[in-house]
Amino acid sequence: MTEFVHVYATGKADVYEEILPQIKGLIDGEKDLTANLANVAAVLKMAFAQISWVGFYLLKEDQLVLGPFQGKPACVRISPGKGVCGTSFERRTTMIVPDVENFPGHIVCDPDSRSEIVVPIISGRYCIGVLDVDSASLDNFNPTDQRYLQDIVTMLLPSFGR
Ligand code: SME
Repeated sequence: MTEFVHVYATGKADVYEEILPQIKGLIDGEKDLTANLANVAAVLKMAFAQISWVGFYLLKEDQLVLGPFQGKPACVRISPGKGVCGTSFERRTTMIVPDVENFPGHIVCDPDSRSEIVVPIISGRYCIGVLDVDSASLDNFNPTDQRYLQDIVTMLLPSFGR
């Protein structure tokens, strides 16, 4: 499957434009949530050298629980309202954190992480999880990432049965 993802573009938006159809190809016709989340994490990690960690936290009972990811082992449970992930989940809004050291309550999972973007997965009235992307570079994420990562999360909603 490694050869499936070829990324030739250099600009960030161009990279996303290349991987969106690849992601669609990987998840279309496959209903298994774990498989689809795992492949999306893998494509994002392969496409962007600046990403140090990428993965999903999914709402289980009243906590966000670690799902498919790429990167170093991470904390398993995050309470709503805690850290960047729990804040994005609670506010139902994408959080772009240019410098994690300046985010009160940031949860240090990967000591290499310097900046972070978290996109909530919203289905109707409910937030059912988040997509968390970390970088070892400061200020790595911008509204281009927000727009495309939100598109990717929307593409995944059918895999959640939504
Ligand atoms: N830094 C996150 C925790 C998850 S790890 O980065 C994988 C946070 O503050 O929510």
